[in-house]
Amino acid sequence: MSFKNLRWAVATASALTLGLAGSALAFHSGGVAECEGCHTMHNSLDGAQMTTAFAQYQAGPYLLQGSDQSSACLNCHQHAGDTGPSSYHISTAPADMPAGTAPLQRTPGGDFGWLKKSYSFVVRGSTINNDGEHHGHNIVAADYGYLGAAGSAPGGTFPADKLACSSCHDPHGKYRRLSDGSIVDGTATSLPIKNSGSYDTSADPTTWGAVGVYRLLGGKNYTPKSGTYAFGATTDPPAAVAPGTYNRTESTTQTRVAYGAGMSEWCANCHGSMLENGYTSGMGGLVHPAGNNAKLGALAANYDKYVKSGDLSGTNTSSFSSLVPFEEGSSNYTTLKAHAKNNDTVLAGPDASSNVNCLSCHRAHASGFASMLRFPHENEFMTIADATGNSIYPTVAGNAAVSQGLSDTEQAAALYDRPATKFAPFQRLLCNKCHAKD
Ligand code: HEC
Ligand code: HEC
Ligand code: HEC
Ligand code: HEC
Ligand code: HEC
Ligand code: HEC
Repeated sequence: MSFKNLRWAVATASALTLGLAGSALAFHSGGVAECEGCHTMHNSLDGAQMTTAFAQYQAGPYLLQGSDQSSACLNCHQHAGDTGPSSYHISTAPADMPAGTAPLQRTPGGDFGWLKKSYSFVVRGSTINNDGEHHGHNIVAADYGYLGAAGSAPGGTFPADKLACSSCHDPHGKYRRLSDGSIVDGTATSLPIKNSGSYDTSADPTTWGAVGVYRLLGGKNYTPKSGTYAFGATTDPPAAVAPGTYNRTESTTQTRVAYGAGMSEWCANCHGSMLENGYTSGMGGLVHPAGNNAKLGALAANYDKYVKSGDLSGTNTSSFSSLVPFEEGSSNYTTLKAHAKNNDTVLAGPDASSNVNCLSCHRAHASGFASMLRFPHENEFMTIADATGNSIYPTVAGNAAVSQGLSDTEQAAALYDRPATKFAPFQRLLCNKCHAKD
């Protein structure tokens, strides 16, 4: 899809090399970006079309440069020709991920390209389908081949055929965090937004300037004009901090987002019945704990000890895994910023007051696994062993059930390029990180 913004063509190229947090070449900068990055007034600039999705002098709904809201985002957030993780891209073009290879982006939220990866494989004579549709949130972005889904959000009522980037992110980035930690929605006099509030490298809010909320997410009462599906009146965006460079391979060091508080409550805007804050062991009729009051408690000790199947020699100082992240149970941005690292300098594990949250198990956009999980969970093993007992990811022919139809390189990619040797041979599922059943 061609899209035109002359200043952008230049800025994007430089932004890639400079890194983005704090860059003068940023776009949203924590709030509303230049209008013509997403809109066009007449679909004409310097006599040429700004978007080829339409004839000249015609634009999409709301004068957008795309057939729908999400397409207007993917004009920048997907880039044909990528060869690896690239800055703020969160979707891979089909031509850049041919069969047998994985989507390229490795952001904490995950690459929407996994929605286009369907697999089927045969176990004991039966064909099993591992559908792309269940790898993530099925956004509607017609210009980019994302078709949405039928039905509604499990545990809620949000209609699936209306799901867009702007269902979760406020395209105008009006929610802002003030220096006293409060979040306001920008509908009344407050303070201007001076920069993103998402990164360890972001400048803090001051008495004269607010910062954007985490990832421009919608907050209390958020409703885009096109939808009548308002978020709750009590739910602010979550407290969290990402490292300045967050779209990267985790083959040697992990990308640690410091999740603070409120993520599960935020997901519950659309999945209300899945929030579980008060759980006592052995109770019936409830869903798995996730929320600000879903404390790890005694299970924090398991998290620390668990290295891999059969190895419980871990300690608190090095137990963190970005495949099973916990929420710190804190909205203290000084602490969160100190923990959001991508170089393994901070790998400290949880304590008893850390929270289980939805993103302990799920990604926010998409993943290589069913139900958008961070780790495979449809078979008892994630790896097998080679002839000498080294842990390997199997080929589909070698072990279809473990592979779930993904090639061995796709399995590694879905685990953000971790070598199989990070796990035990015949590694069990990562529910064990907290439950240590093996
Ligand atoms: C990051 C992309 C993006 C940027 C930048 C952006 N918009 Fe929008 N805008 C959208 C999207 C997406 C919608 C449709 C929202 C919906 O579904 O209701 C929209 C809708 C609108 C609407 C109609 C609905 C409403 O909310 O009133 C107006 C007016 C508008 N934008 C004005 C602006 C102005 C003025 C600017 C610059 C100060 C701007 N936009 C910048 C993406 C953007
Ligand atoms: C003109 C190109 C462009 C368009 C269109 C665009 N983005 Fe972005 N986006 C960027 C760039 C560049 C960054 C990184 C720099 C920044 O955040 O300012 C970014 C960053 C982001 C971030 C992270 C920001 C943070 O502070 O954590 C989110 C979330 C995001 N975009 C969502 C969207 C959504 C949703 C839309 C559509 C409504 C959209 N973008 C449209 C270029 C674009
Ligand atoms: C269901 C809600 C939801 C939808 C739909 C959604 N996002 Fe996000 N997005 C999130 C959340 C939550 C995060 C933070 C993830 C984290 O830190 O683990 C995020 C993170 C991001 C980031 C930062 C990089 C990353 O992946 O961590 C960008 C950029 C972004 N989103 C853009 C988009 C664009 C563009 C779309 C549409 C094509 C979109 N999002 C659709 C919820 C959503
Ligand atoms: C704006 C509404 C909205 C928000 C906010 C939202 N979701 Fe969803 N979610 C949906 C809809 C609609 C579906 C069903 C359509 C689909 O599967 O794509 C869905 C589906 C899912 C699925 C099932 C995927 C599959 O196909 O098996 C998971 C898991 C999920 N959401 C987790 C989350 C998590 C975790 C968060 C918070 C980070 C979140 N959602 C926030 C609307 C939302
Ligand atoms: C981030 C840590 C964490 C992860 C990962 C995790 N759990 Fe839990 N789980 C908990 C906590 C905390 C409880 C609360 C009960 C407790 O204290 O034993 C719990 C409770 C449970 C219970 C009820 C136990 C009881 O005593 O009533 C089951 C069953 C369970 N989890 C299964 C799973 C499965 C299956 C997975 C993987 C899909 C998983 N858990 C992943 C932390 C976790
Ligand atoms: C302990 C890990 C874990 C946590 C925490 C967790 N989930 Fe899930 N979720 C799963 C697994 C595993 C599945 C697959 C279905 C199943 O086992 O119930 C799933 C399935 C889902 C589905 C798809 C349901 C369907 O009908 O296909 C949605 C939606 C969902 N989760 C949302 C959430 C939300 C929202 C939260 C936080 C409030 C959350 N999950 C917390 C592990 C988890």
